[in-house]
Amino acid sequence: MGDSAAESIPFPLGSEPAAGRETSRSNSPLAVVTGATRGIGEALSRRLAAARFRLAVVGRDTDRLRTTVRALDLIAGSGRVFGFRADLTSPRSTVDLASELARRFPAIDVLVNNAGALFSPRQTSVDGVEATWALNVEAPFLLTGLLLEPLARGGSGRVVNIGSAAHRTGRLDWDDLERRRYGAWGAYAQSKLALLLWTREAARRYANLPISFNVAHPGFIRSGFGQTSARGAWRAVLTVAELFARSSAAGATTPYFLATSPSVAGVSGQYFSRCRSVPPSSRARDPEAAARLFDRLLATLSSVAPGLWTFQR
Ligand SMILES: NC(=O)c1ccc[n+]([C@@H]2O[C@H](COP(=O)([O-])OP(=O)(O)OC[C@H]3O[C@@H](n4cnc5c(N)ncnc54)[C@H](OP(=O)(O)O)[C@@H]3O)[C@@H](O)[C@H]2O)c1
Repeated sequence: MGDSAAESIPFPLGSEPAAGRETSRSNSPLAVVTGATRGIGEALSRRLAAARFRLAVVGRDTDRLRTTVRALDLIAGSGRVFGFRADLTSPRSTVDLASELARRFPAIDVLVNNAGALFSPRQTSVDGVEATWALNVEAPFLLTGLLLEPLARGGSGRVVNIGSAAHRTGRLDWDDLERRRYGAWGAYAQSKLALLLWTREAARRYANLPISFNVAHPGFIRSGFGQTSARGAWRAVLTVAELFARSSAAGATTPYFLATSPSVAGVSGQYFSRCRSVPPSSRARDPEAAARLFDRLLATLSSVAPGLWTFQR
């Protein structure tokens, strides 16, 4: 699944100052968006760029990232969009990405953990982790837990995790979270349930920090979903289903609302659909499962990510 190293790419090519640390707080807010090279993440990045955000966009493919940054540059203005390459199925690559982001940006106002996929057949990352669990659950957990300090620095950081109504059919298989007995939908639904659980637990454990943690369901959206990660029957099903789906721009509406609206300042630990807080499934509201999962992820990932979720004010 590609290289594991994260890499910052200077854009526009050659004209950005060398990859140094920003020394003063810019007037315009900074948003980090993963999975910005396609679909909902790309549409969201466009809206944020138009709203005068500076953007750090994350993609895994250098050429697509280059194209995305050039397009965003036209909206945001030159020198306000930064591209970072990382394979988010690799915990090591995600940790490198977090270090690079923290090194470059003292303050991060919005982190959108958008990159996600359904995999068929089962795949593993370069580190040997099942890809759905690695990309949809571990990567956002790592990125968020390693960026608490820059997120807190601006005084009102927002973490927007892109979930899915699919969580309603999800169950956590505690003995087999990486699903050796694999079904693509079961692994995907489990991952979105897990994302909701740890997000709600983060909101509870870190309520003293000036950071909100919420989950957005984008709706049923026509995007690149499944086009690279699914083969065979699942690819066919998703291709046909997308004929009935809404546009990627529509899918960006609720994430954009959570990233920017004054009406949700200070709201944390909630699940949003169509720009409204709605109750997630009863399994996603289980506080014991949330705490257990958070501790499990910490135990699994702390060895590759020293300092994970340790920042306190
Ligand atoms: N589409 C829907 O109906 C729907 C519904 C509910 C929830 N969602 C969620 O919405 C989010 C965005 O999905 P989408 O529909 O916009 O899908 P998409 O069009 O396939 O976009 C996914 C993005 O994630 C990136 N990505 C995939 N694997 C990666 C990796 N290993 N490392 C780094 N980046 C990676 C992709 O990069 P490349 O350009 O390199 O492929 C792409 O930019 C996902 O979390 C998905 O689960 C989607």
